[in-house]
Amino acid sequence: MAARRPCIAVLTGGGDCPGLNAVIRAVVKAALRLGYDCIGFLRGYEGLVDPVSYMPLDRQNTAEILLRGGTILGSTNKGRFTALVGEGERVRIDPELLSQAADTLRRLSVTGLVCVGGDGSLSIAQQLHEHGLPVVGVPKTIDNDLGSTAFTFGFDSAVATATDALDRLHTTAASHERVMVLEVMGRHAGWIALHAGIAGGGDVILIPEIPWSFAAVCHQVRAREAEGRRSTLVVVAEGAQWPGGGLVHDTPAGEKRQVRLGGIGERVAAELTQRLDREVRTVVLGHLQRGGTPTPFDRMLATQFGAHAVALVHEGRFGEMVRYRPPHIEGVPIADAIRELSVVDPASSAVRAARALGVSFGDETAAGCGAAAEG
Ligand code: F6P
Repeated sequence: MAARRPCIAVLTGGGDCPGLNAVIRAVVKAALRLGYDCIGFLRGYEGLVDPVSYMPLDRQNTAEILLRGGTILGSTNKGRFTALVGEGERVRIDPELLSQAADTLRRLSVTGLVCVGGDGSLSIAQQLHEHGLPVVGVPKTIDNDLGSTAFTFGFDSAVATATDALDRLHTTAASHERVMVLEVMGRHAGWIALHAGIAGGGDVILIPEIPWSFAAVCHQVRAREAEGRRSTLVVVAEGAQWPGGGLVHDTPAGEKRQVRLGGIGERVAAELTQRLDREVRTVVLGHLQRGGTPTPFDRMLATQFGAHAVALVHEGRFGEMVRYRPPHIEGVPIADAIRELSVVDPASSAVRAARALGVSFGDETAAGCGAAAEG
C-alpha cells in the first residue's frame, strides 16, 4: 500500500468576506506542489468535532473559486467554539472540545491546520495552539481591525462596495436636496467608514474613535446650505458611540457571542430630521459589504496569505499568523495579533486630509456647534 502523504487542512471561521476562497485556492495549490494532500473542515471549527465534517480539496474543486465570494467550506460565528463574547471579553474554550479537535487532526494525519479568521476565530486558533495543535493563522475581516497587519483581506472589497453606495447616494441626494445617512459595518473600528467616506466624498464621517455631537453635525449641514450645497452625505460606522456614550445594538439577552451592532443609522437620521426639520433618509449597507467578488487587491493579498501560510506549516512555525507589513508578507505570533484591536488614529494622515477638505467628524467646536460631548 502506498504511504499516506502528509496533509494540510484549512478552515474558515467567523463572518465571511470576499477573498476566503482565494485563500483556500492558494493553500491548496501551494500545498500540493510541496507534496501535501489537502482537506477543508466544514462550518469553521465545528467541523473539527463530532460530527467531524471535512472535504478533500484538490485542483479540480478549487479551480474556479478565485473570484467567488463567500467560502466553499462554510463558516459560522456561533457554535461550540467561542473565545470572545460581549464587547470583546475573552473566555476559555471547553478543554474537552480542544482535545476532540486534537484527536481529529491526529486521526486524519494533519501536519498543519490553517485557520482563516478575524479576532474571534484567531483567538480560538491561539487556544488550539496553546493546547498543542499545529495551527497557523490567516487574518480575514472586512473590519480591518486586527493588530499586527497593515490590512486584512476583505476590507478593500467592503470599502469598494461602500464607496459605490456613496457614489450612487450623491446623485439621488442632490436631486432631492436631502441629507442621507449611510450606515456601514466595521464593529469597534471606523476603518470602513473612514476609507469609504473619503473615497466616496462623504461630508460627515462618524467613527468610534472620535466622539461626536449632533450640534457639530447639524452645523456642518447648515454651513453647507449656506454655501448653496443642499444635500449632505453622512457616513456612520455601526460601532460609533452615541453622543453621551453607549453602542447601538440589538443583541438578544444571553446570546453567547459578541454583541451584534447595528441600528445607529436610523437613529442618527431620526435625530437629524427633528433637529434640522429636513428630509433625511437612511441606507444600511449591511451584509452587502461582505458578499460578492473580491477586488483585485483582496485576491492578491488573500493569495499571498494562503501561500505564505503553507510555508509556515512547512517550516513548522505553528502559532504564527501571516501578516502584511508592506512590502512584506511574513509571520507574527497569533498572540500578538489578537492582543489589541487596530483602530483608526484620529491624528492619522487620512483623518487630517479629510479635515483639510472640510469633512466633518462631528467633533468640531466652531462657534454655534457646541461642545463635542454635547448630544
Ligand atoms: O466582523 C465582520 C462583521 O461583518 C462586522 O462588521 C459586523 O458587525 C458583524 O460581522 C456582523 O455579523 P453577523 O454575521 O452576525 O451579522
